[in-house]
Amino acid sequence: MVGAVENVMASVSGKVNGAVEILRGDFDSTAVVAEPLPPVVEDNESLRDFEEKEEDAKPKSREIVLGNNVHTSCLAVTEPEVNDELTGDQDAYMASVLARYRKTLVDRTKHHLGYPYNLDFDYGALSQLQHFSINNLGDPFIESNYGVHSRQFEVGVLDWFARLWEIEKNEYWGYITNCGTEGNLHGILVGREVFPDGILYASKESHYSVFKAARMYRMECVKVDTLTSGEIDCADFKVKLLANKDKPAIINVNIGTTVKGAVDDLDLVIQTLEECGFSHDRFYIHCDGALFGLMMPFVKRAPKVTFKKPIGSVSVSGHKFVGCPMPCGVQITRMEHINVLSSNVEYLASRDATIMGSRNGHAPIFLWYTLNRKGYKGFQKEVQKCLRNAHYLKDHLREAGISAMLNELSSTVVFERPKEEEFVRKWQLACQGNIAHVVVMPNVTIDKLDDFLNELIERRSTWYQDGSVQPPCLVAEVGKENCACALHNC
Ligand SMILES: Cc1ncc(COP(=O)(O)O)c(C=O)c1O
Repeated sequence: MVGAVENVMASVSGKVNGAVEILRGDFDSTAVVAEPLPPVVEDNESLRDFEEKEEDAKPKSREIVLGNNVHTSCLAVTEPEVNDELTGDQDAYMASVLARYRKTLVDRTKHHLGYPYNLDFDYGALSQLQHFSINNLGDPFIESNYGVHSRQFEVGVLDWFARLWEIEKNEYWGYITNCGTEGNLHGILVGREVFPDGILYASKESHYSVFKAARMYRMECVKVDTLTSGEIDCADFKVKLLANKDKPAIINVNIGTTVKGAVDDLDLVIQTLEECGFSHDRFYIHCDGALFGLMMPFVKRAPKVTFKKPIGSVSVSGHKFVGCPMPCGVQITRMEHINVLSSNVEYLASRDATIMGSRNGHAPIFLWYTLNRKGYKGFQKEVQKCLRNAHYLKDHLREAGISAMLNELSSTVVFERPKEEEFVRKWQLACQGNIAHVVVMPNVTIDKLDDFLNELIERRSTWYQDGSVQPPCLVAEVGKENCACALHNC
């Protein structure tokens, strides 16, 4: 059977055993592959043995709990029967799968607390656009030959963010990315292009995409310590800068860390660079605002992210606080930097300066729609609500004797990791070591928090009921004042 497939494939590609052959005269360009799907790969024992041995050989660290294997619940693709068009069986089957899936989504949305996604939106007005393949491939500011694009929305959105971060229209360049990660990959790449021999500095609590960028671009990367709050420790930063004074510095500054929602002090980072003798033409700062990039401008006392300061780029995720239903993000940098990494592409009639090629043209329309509907005032109100509700959750956790911490500029409530994985899965909590967090987004209401608190307190009383196991001490993670373990709660 496999041989037959190989023969057909060989006659189509003209390739036998890797060597390219001139196509035979009897080549039929309309012939179809008799069996288009390759056979299912059976469980391969020797491969499994090998993988297990490899696994055994690795040094053992704290076990990371991975989610369920989706192969046990995946929805197989079923081949339509020949007479399906008459019976409609396939359509009926697919409709029932989708209806059940929709129900699951409703339930999962109801119990979501751990990831910073704003699930409160109504984009019904945009459903008329789902029949179009909208693609903004290339540079947002230079139309490509592909006409089904949404650049007019994209540039409108970019201008809005440029205004927020105080950079003139003719001085910035940016684009709508596929996610916050892409913004980091782009910002750090711009930094690397400006300073090819620069060292990347990032606090150890930076998002993993920052360290991925360092690996991808083969950059020297120095991890900087953090304070208990999760903020970059500028004393340690100083020591590390002074040890590498001969090389320019590329710095990732967190406007909200992933786990603790800590906001690095941008002004102190700049001051530290200056004190160590780094003039403005010897450093590049990328601000990772994936999480709170759109919240900070509305929080009093928050360090201001602005291009009036010596920063090189800022990125934010569009599906987090903004509330887009598909992953997306915004990346803004200085025009002077982008010329270093862009090139013209004839096939597009546009310029290539983005990480990806094809780009989701629907995302800018969703962003444009929500920015128009809410405006600055709307976002401000939502930020205030999130911060208020985050305090409510933190206070109630502490009242219930549970270790909990909330950074001043943040809506991420960090607390003791629940002991039961089922509970963690139900509420979709993000966990790391002994801690878990809830990120209070605009869709997280007091009612939802009450449900969560009641269930947590009730379940927790059973986990620690007989006293044989104690709740963990979180002094290292959240500080003495926030730790409610037996030793510190006196
Ligand atoms: C601080 C930070 N940076 C970057 C990212 C990556 O963003 P995305 O998931 O949009 O790729 C995240 C995601 O949570 C994050 O918390």
